[in-house]
This record gives sequence, structure tokens and C-alpha cells, in this order.
Amino acid sequence: MKKDMEKMTVSELEAEVRLHNRLYFVEHKPVISDYEFDKLVETLRKKKPDSKALTEIFSDFERSKGQLEMWKETKEAIAVTHDIPMLSLDKCYDEKDVIDWASKIKGDFIASPKIDGCAVSIKYGRDGSLVQAATRGDGFEGDEITENIKQIRTVPHKVSVKNIEVRGEVYMPLSVFKQYEKEFANPRNLAAGAIKQKDPQKTGEYHLSFLAYDLLGIDCITELDKRGILERNGFHVVETEKVDREKLQATFERFLERRYKNDFETDGVVFKANVIAEQERLASTAHHPRYAVAYKYQGESGKTKLVDVEWSVARTGVITPVAIVKPVALSGVQVTRASLHNVGIMRKLGVEIGDKVLMMRRGGVIPYVEEVVQRGGKPVPIPKKCPSCGAPTELKDDFLYCTNPKSCVASKIAELEHFIKEIGCDGFGEKRIAKLYENGFVTDPAEFYTLTAGDLLQLERMGDTLAAKLIKNINDKRDLSLEAFLRSLGIREVGKHVSKILGGYGGIKKVMSLTEEELSEIHTIGPVIAREVVAGLKEKRRLIEKLLKYVKIRKVKVEIEIKEGPFAGKKVLFTGSLVAMERKAAQALVEEAGGEAAEGVSRELDYLVVGDGGGAGSKLAKAKKIIADGGKTKILTEKEFLKMLDLRP
Ligand code: IVH
Repeated sequence: MKKDMEKMTVSELEAEVRLHNRLYFVEHKPVISDYEFDKLVETLRKKKPDSKALTEIFSDFERSKGQLEMWKETKEAIAVTHDIPMLSLDKCYDEKDVIDWASKIKGDFIASPKIDGCAVSIKYGRDGSLVQAATRGDGFEGDEITENIKQIRTVPHKVSVKNIEVRGEVYMPLSVFKQYEKEFANPRNLAAGAIKQKDPQKTGEYHLSFLAYDLLGIDCITELDKRGILERNGFHVVETEKVDREKLQATFERFLERRYKNDFETDGVVFKANVIAEQERLASTAHHPRYAVAYKYQGESGKTKLVDVEWSVARTGVITPVAIVKPVALSGVQVTRASLHNVGIMRKLGVEIGDKVLMMRRGGVIPYVEEVVQRGGKPVPIPKKCPSCGAPTELKDDFLYCTNPKSCVASKIAELEHFIKEIGCDGFGEKRIAKLYENGFVTDPAEFYTLTAGDLLQLERMGDTLAAKLIKNINDKRDLSLEAFLRSLGIREVGKHVSKILGGYGGIKKVMSLTEEELSEIHTIGPVIAREVVAGLKEKRRLIEKLLKYVKIRKVKVEIEIKEGPFAGKKVLFTGSLVAMERKAAQALVEEAGGEAAEGVSRELDYLVVGDGGGAGSKLAKAKKIIADGGKTKILTEKEFLKMLDLRP
């Protein structure tokens, strides 16, 4: 960073936040540490808590895997400078504020829902054809999206008026978003990615819509006149009502009530002076026009179903009830669970399983179960045994305790740590894992994959960027080699060597179906390990099945690299039946020794291993012919092969 953060102005901080946000999320080339970025964000938050740059990060970090993938398809931005800046709106949150704002304005007002989408500008030229479209960007400069905007059916390509600029909101209708809601955090993020696609046809496939709210380039008397012109030219215009100053609050409340009837997300009501001359008189500050205001809806709440109550155990032994709810989007994040704090509070709320509950992110951050809206009818049993270690529990005052706190949680946390280490995921150290476990967010390895940024934010010292990074790190580990997957399960004896051999079987199903006999036939495994492996896989069956919902096991094609070992860089093929082990296991040993299992006999083949069990056939004949022709191929007996690997025949 060039300058001391504390000395930076708000707009400098905003510019830095946006820059590093883009470098991290879009270009995948961060140049400052997460710690520095978090400090930057905090400094901006202190100076300007409602900065738009902050909500932009918020939306970035909520990008799920699907969104991150989609953002790779966004095009190189061509900058477009706005002739007249696209300012943001000043906000207000209560009746007093809105009356204060209105007291400085003469005449009547108009009200429209504030659509939570992406602002764009669309220009029509001398003959009324659409000539350029751009995103809002930072208000002064946006990205060019002309061909993409033409893919939106509700945007006219030609109008009957000349040289105009139409501004409005591109959004994804909620009815369209439904099919994406599992993969994408919210319709705004999806619309923002969809409008910037490299291939305009792709933009078209997202079925975005456009609602106009402003017209520049034509002299009009009132806002309502502008909207009339827009409508006559084929635009869909945001719903607009004329409002007297006495009715501002009542109008806000009416819009709020109808909020969920719209096929788009809204986050408030925009009030504007209706008379353009009055707008011109009031003019703008550097950030927002004085003649308009966004009266924002309060911290978003949502109703959802309480599906279960889980109990999470802290190292102190306190067992906390955690509400597991059907995922609900609250102020841009997916919420799936919320602490119920303790048995006393849970009882006071009167929570039952199956309840319809009202949830809210208090202070806009932490999700709470606010109240039960409709009874579920299934009481929540208080566990008699600790869910972590099985020791008896004890209810003292409002708190439930495990009576064996010392050894209880440690092994669970160790299991989670082992998993994270083996899949090679960064960012989850012991302390963080312990917190996740104690808060009930991750109680088994599979639950790392269901973590949401909303969950992570509930941990202490968790910033937006860090939460985003952790989710990304986990998402990057959804594709595992069979070997790593097996090692991650924490089965005794399934370490580096055994997992490599088992990895050679190619699929988890096959590995799980192996019998003790089959395994013990493998030379370096033997009966004791075989028993542990089979028993371990059986014990972990449920976990394996759960993990397979989130993880894909990669089929690895071993890269040809010169490794150390007796078969370094060599191609080896087997023929006839091997006596000492199965063919797959022998191939795994070759790979471990730096070689590669060949697919057939060719002049490239270094070794043909002939099994002692007989049945060598045509491969042997072919290899002999190559040798006779002066080829490099060598023939090894099974015994010679084992010897080369230092294994006793
Ligand atoms: S009027 C100064 N009307 O809100 C801009 N804006 O925070 C005045 N928005 O970037 C625009 N719905 O994208 C207006 N009915 C509406 C709106 C609306 C959403 C957005 C707009 C702007 C942002 C300002």
C-alpha cells in the first residue's frame, strides 16, 4: 500500500478496496495479504460504514463455487466514462430521517421500489439505435457491455427519440433465479456476472431483465414525464407512484408489505422530487443527489423451517444447542444454522423441531432465531449423553455440560485436523478447527464442505476476506485423488504406503469391496494391516458416503516424471498371472518406484514382467520379436521384478 491507511480519504480507501477485491476474486492475483486487506476494509468501515465498496466485497465473498467459475468467463473490461456520473443514493432508515430529507424539497414526490440489481447506462444515438451500454462501475467509469445488454429481451434496440441515455437496473427475476439458488448466493451477484460474460449469447441464457428509472438527454418537466417517454419507447419502467409529503411513511410501509410480491429483490424505497427544476435547484453532493433518497428496509429477516437442533460441545464441556434450519438468504448470505445459546434461552423461545421460525441477522451480521412463528410440535430432547464422547451430561441452571470435558473434544478436533491436512487445505489451523467444532459448524469432515460464509462470520476475528478465502480453499478441494481421500479418513494403517496401493484400484467402491484375504495377498500389506483397513473402511462407511456427496474422486493419470527409484522413468507392462499380488497392486508399486504402467507392448516398453502363474501369451511373443529386432525392451520374471523392488520373492 502506497499510503498509511489511516491517512487515506474515504474515496481512496474505496478505490483500494475495489482494486484488491478484483485482484483477488476476479483476476486471482492478490498483491496484498489477507491481513492487510482486512485492515483496509476495517478502516473504510470505520470511516464510512455504509460504503458501497463494502457491500461489493460482501457479495464477492459470498460467491459460491458456481459464481467463481462464472466469473472466469467475464470479459476483459473496456472502460467507459460516464458523461454524467452515476451517483449512489443517500440512505435513510426511519420516518424522522425521511421527513427531514423531504423538508428541504418543494413540490411532490415519486416513490419506486429500490431494486437490488446492477445499475447500467444505455445510450441511443442519432438515429435512435442502441449504440453503447455500460455498467455503473465506480460511478465515474464502468465496463462496456453493449452486445450483452442487447441480449436482454426487455431492452429496446431502437427508440423514436435521438441521443438519449437510459439508466436502470439489470436484474435476474426471482422466478429465473430459482434454478440457480443452490449454486449462487443471490440474484444480484449472478446478474452482475451474467451481464459481463465474454460471450453475449451466454448473457442471453441467464434470462436477465431490465427496468428503467431514468432518462437523460431530453428536457422534461417532471419525473413522471420521463417515465411516460420511456414507456412509449418500449421500456419496462420501474413501478412509480406520485406521493404527497404527508404520505411518505405510509407509502414506505405499503411498499414494504408488498415487497415479496415482486419477481425481484428489493432493499428499500427510492423517493425522488418529482419536479425536474426542483432537482436541478437542489443538485448533488460529490456522492449522491440531494433530490433523491433510498429509505432502506431494516436488517433483513426471513422465515424458514427449523429442521433439527444439534448439540455442540466446547472444550470447557459446555454443550450448546444449535438450530439447523432450511437454508434461508438473509442480507445476501445463506444461513443454515444459528446458535440457540443455552438450554434456558432455547426453552424461553419455545423452540420445537419442525417449527417455522423468524430469523434475522442482528446488526446485519449474526443470524438469530428471533421467534417461533408456527409450532412444529416435536419437542427438542435434551441429550442425556454427550454427543461428542458419550459421557453423561449434567444440566446446571440454564447450561448443559459434558461430565468428561478433558478427553471429550480433543479426539474429534484431531480427526478434523487430520482431514484438513491430508486434503491439503490451507487456512484451517487447530484453533480455527476447534472453534468450528465447538460452535457446531463442523462436526465431521464432510461438514467442511457445507460451511457458508454466514457460518464463518460468526467466529471471532473473522473478516469478510478471510471468510471468502476459507470458503474458496475448501471449494478448491472438492476434487481429490483416491489416495488422498483414503488417507484423509484417518483409518489406522492407511498412511502413505497403503493409500498408494489402494489408490491403484482406481475407485472407492472397488476399495470398499476388498476383502481381508485379497488385501493380505498384497506383498507389503499382510494380514494385520488388511484387517485394520477393512474394519476401518467399514467403520467409516457413513462418513465416506457423506463425503462423496461433496467430493469427486479424481481419476489420476500418473504424470511421466523422472522420479527416484528402480523403475524411474521406465514403462512396465505385466503379462500372465502374478502370484505375489494382484496386477493393480503391482502397477501401484511400479508407480511408487518412479515408473509408469504401460498399456501394451511397443518399442517404447522398457520391461515386460511375466507372472509366475503362467498364461503369458501374445504379449511375450511380441516383446521377444522387438528384442530380436534390437529394441530396448527387457523381459523380467516375477521374481526378478520383486527383487528389483527389494521385495522378497
Ligand atoms: S434512482 C442516484 N430508482 O440504487 C441514482 N435507483 O444507490 C438514482 N436503484 O445505483 C437512481 N432501484 O442502481 C433509482 N427505483 C430506483 C432504483 C435505483 C435501484 C439503484 C441504482 C443506483 C443505486 C443507488
